[in-house]
Amino acid sequence: MLRSLFLAAAGSARLERLVESAPVTKGVVRRFVAGGDAGEALRACRELADDGLAVSLDLLGEDTTTAEQAQATRDEYVALLARLHEAGLTPAAEVSVKLSALGQRIDEKMAYEHARAVCAAAAEAGTTVTLDAEDHTTTDATLETLVELRRDFPSTGAVLQAYLRRTEADCRELATAGSRVRLCKGAYAEPESVAFQSSLDVDKSYVRCLNILMSGAGYPMVATHDPRLIAIAEDRARWFDRSAGEFEFQLLYGVRPEEQARLAARGDTVRVYLPYGNQWYGYLMRRLAERPANVAFFARAVSSR
Ligand code: FDA
Repeated sequence: MLRSLFLAAAGSARLERLVESAPVTKGVVRRFVAGGDAGEALRACRELADDGLAVSLDLLGEDTTTAEQAQATRDEYVALLARLHEAGLTPAAEVSVKLSALGQRIDEKMAYEHARAVCAAAAEAGTTVTLDAEDHTTTDATLETLVELRRDFPSTGAVLQAYLRRTEADCRELATAGSRVRLCKGAYAEPESVAFQSSLDVDKSYVRCLNILMSGAGYPMVATHDPRLIAIAEDRARWFDRSAGEFEFQLLYGVRPEEQARLAARGDTVRVYLPYGNQWYGYLMRRLAERPANVAFFARAVSSR
């Protein structure tokens, strides 16, 4: 119920204005978002790197409605990658990109060209790119773009969402040599026709997908905070003889930092997804939708003002 409310709120421009103007919001945003600009993101990235954590930086923004905005997003990523390289933070830091932020909803070809430019800048900086997964209406187009990008930039990564009924088949398709696949549960409000609705069904799908990725020839990126799924991933890694550098865990900035440290201390590769920028509203609403305790945190911050 709460989940649906927050996911509906994620798409409301009126609520967005209201939440953005509330003074309290700042503190809450700070927990999940590294900062408003690349300088702050780089500082957070350095701190994580000093703790032995890898990073995927995400410039927040999914409401791109003009070609100018799409171009500005591309330019920001290109500049960010150069700064990461200069700061010696690559290859441990890569970037995550939403094709919608590069203009996928305006013109798919343009978004593809921008994504190519970001991949080229990443290659130049000695690192790579992962294409985030968005709502199910974009899955086909995003996976087609991935195939095109991988021709010249084979390390470009994909994200697959276990809640989608199609994802087991997509895992089979992508569990091939050199293929980097981030497996997450999925964060959007999706209809029953395309997505499992109960958390049990989503978790079962996650495990089926994990089995395919861990037994395949690609590089699985296990993106979850769920203790049961993390334990199952550890078990499957042992079962399929994968050592620490042959898969990785990924967690979101600000979520279960103690678990991030525990996994890294065991010698596992752990990557923190680090969002930054001013367009944090949709991202924050999806985090609140995921976990009642996050809502309680938000409510406490509001009531303490
Ligand atoms: P879930 O939210 O179901 O939580 C399961 C359990 O984990 C909880 O019951 C609790 O035990 C524990 N837990 C969770 N949060 C906790 C907290 N704050 N403190 C303590 N325990 C906590 N989605 C998408 O659609 N497209 C994408 O591209 C991405 N990208 C992405 C990258 C990375 C690195 C991650 C980690 C996640 C994504 N996601 C995503 C989001 C993903 O789909 C999903 O919505 C969230 O990760 C939440 O799902 P969990 O698997 O963490 O489990």
